[in-house]
Amino acid sequence: MKAPVHVAVTGAAGQISYSLLFRIASGDFLGPDQPICLHLLEITPALGALEGAVMELNDCAFPLLQSVSMSDDAEVAFKDIDFAFLVGARPRGPGMERKDLLEANAAIFSVQGKALNKVAKRDVRVLVVGNPANTNALIAMNNAPDLDPRNFTAMTRLDHNRAMSLLAEKTGNHNTDVTKMTIWGNHSATQYPDLHNCLINGEDALSKVDASWYADDFIPAVQQRGAAIIKARGLSSAASAASSALDHMRTWVQGTADGDWVSMGIPSDGSYGIEEGLIYSFPVTVKDGDYSIVQGLEINDFSRERMIATENELKEERDGVKHLL
Ligand code: NAD
Ligand code: LMR
Repeated sequence: MKAPVHVAVTGAAGQISYSLLFRIASGDFLGPDQPICLHLLEITPALGALEGAVMELNDCAFPLLQSVSMSDDAEVAFKDIDFAFLVGARPRGPGMERKDLLEANAAIFSVQGKALNKVAKRDVRVLVVGNPANTNALIAMNNAPDLDPRNFTAMTRLDHNRAMSLLAEKTGNHNTDVTKMTIWGNHSATQYPDLHNCLINGEDALSKVDASWYADDFIPAVQQRGAAIIKARGLSSAASAASSALDHMRTWVQGTADGDWVSMGIPSDGSYGIEEGLIYSFPVTVKDGDYSIVQGLEINDFSRERMIATENELKEERDGVKHLL
C-alpha cells in the first residue's frame, strides 16, 4: 500500500468543496491505489457546517480515505501537506467582475501563503481557485519566500475545458477530438482563448469555423461563461470548478498526453514577452511532475493585442495589492 498523500482544501464547507472533497476521497484525484489524508480549513463560523460535510465523507466509507482533520487555523491545516487546493474565498454575485473580490479576498491569501511557507512540505503544490485566482496566487506566492514560486498556480483549466467543449459542440465533434487549446492570461473577462494552434482531430480548428464566430461569439462566450452560470444558477459554478481543479492537479502530477498541452496560471518567466513574475495562464506540457511553457508558437497581431490586454489587467490587479506582496 502506498503512503498516504496529505491534501489540504480551504473553504471546505463551501459549494465547490462539496463536490471536490468527495471526488478527492473517492480516488478521482490520484487514482484508486493512492490513500488520502484530508486537511480541511474553514473560518470559525463555518466549522459547524464543515462537521456535517465530514459526517457525510465518513458515511461514504471511502476505501482510500485514511483521515480527515478540520481546523480554522491555516498553520494547523497546512502542516506537512503535499497539495493545497485554495478554494476558500468569497464568490462574486450577478453584475460583479472577479476583480471586485480583490479587497475581500486578498488578505486570505497573504495569511495562507505565510502559513504554507511555515509548515507545508517544501515541495507542496498549490492551486488557487478562489477569485481573483491569478492575483490571489501571486499574493500567496509572494508571502511564501522559502517555497519554490513555481509551485504556486492559478486555475484556468475550467476556461480551457469550457473552450474545448464549446468548440466541440460548434463543430459537431466530441471534446476528446480537440487538442492544443490555449487560454492566455487572467481567469477573467480579459482572458484570451486562442484557437490559432488548436486542432480538431489533428486538423486546424480555425479552418473549421467562421472567423466572425471565433472573434465575436466564441471568445466572449468563454470569457463570460462564469457570469452566464451565475445568471442561470443564481450561484457561481461549483461542480465544474471542482472537476477542473482535479484536472489541473492530476495533470500536474501525471503529465500531459503526448501531442497535447493544457492551460495553467503559472509565474511568468518572461516567455512571449509577458512580464516576469505575473501569474499568467500559458499553454504548458507536464512531464515528471514539472511543467514547461510551450515555446515557439507564432503570435499574430490579433493574438498579441489580446495577450497584452489581459497582461495589463493582471498588472493593474497586482498594483492594487502591492501592500500584500
Ligand atoms: P462558497 O461561498 O460556497 O464557499 C467559500 C467557502 O470559503 C465558505 O465556506 C467560506 O466560509 C470559506 N472561507 C472564506 N474565507 C476563508 C478562509 N480565510 N479560510 C478558509 N475558508 C474560508 O464559494 P464557492 O462557490 O465554493 O467558491 C469559492 C471561490 O472559488 C470563489 O472565490 C469563487 O469565485 C471561486 N471560483 C473560481 C473558479 C476558477 O475557475 N478559478 C471557478 C469557480 C469558483
Ligand atoms: C467561474 O469562472 O465560473 C468562476 O470564476 C466563478 C465566477 O465568478 O465566474
